[in-house]
Amino acid sequence: MIDTHIHIDEEAYAADREEVIARQRKAGVEAMIVPGVNAQSIDGILDICHRHKGHCFPALGFHPQDVKEDWQEQWAIIEKAIREYRNELVAIGEIGLDYYWDTTFKEAQREVFQRQLDLAQELDLPIMIHNRDATEDTLKILKLQIADCRFAHPLRGVMHCFNGSKEVAKQILDMGLYLGIGGVLTFKNCKLFETLEVVPLDRIVLETDGPYLAPTPHRGERNESRLMIFVVQRLAEIYGTTPEEIIAQTTKNAKKLFFA
Ligand code: NI
Repeated sequence: MIDTHIHIDEEAYAADREEVIARQRKAGVEAMIVPGVNAQSIDGILDICHRHKGHCFPALGFHPQDVKEDWQEQWAIIEKAIREYRNELVAIGEIGLDYYWDTTFKEAQREVFQRQLDLAQELDLPIMIHNRDATEDTLKILKLQIADCRFAHPLRGVMHCFNGSKEVAKQILDMGLYLGIGGVLTFKNCKLFETLEVVPLDRIVLETDGPYLAPTPHRGERNESRLMIFVVQRLAEIYGTTPEEIIAQTTKNAKKLFFA
């Protein structure tokens, strides 16, 4: 299994991070991608990924929720680091729009998202997109980006923590993007299984978004990559196949997107 999105650098893992990482390896998690959220997160992520080379892989980016008054200073630091560490990075992320908590910096969020899309295409890196309560703007920006022919490299990436409708899924798939599926799929009342009717298995990657969103029956606990097995089991039911096949296919997808 490959966990394409885990915040292993966060405080929630501070007390036993090394044990947690070792435990995932033992449980058959072959790689973990650690996304950046702001300028402060850069050093910690790179340090962990250097110490666990070949198992933990860094992404760097500017999370929309971290876009505040000081966004220009933050962005200057993040952009510099992305360019400097380009060859170690497997993606730019997480990036996107989040209108859920605070829309004060909506304009700045869109500006920062745009700059990161441009940078991803300039540097030929995939993107990890975060969208919360901003589907319309997110899709609009992505479509314009794809229609823009300034870049030699195509836009590629994943809609992280996807939990949308069939209509939205179709639009994302049409743009050539993947869907990141995590613990939410196992939650009671989650309708994502209906959406998956229009999603081919070769367009799904697994993720935890740890420490958040642990799958049922561990809902509410600190998440770990090995718990993705519960997501795998649910996917196997939905697609009428075996957990082994789900693991094989999602691993292949993640390798194609991030490690090719
Ligand atoms: Ni995240």
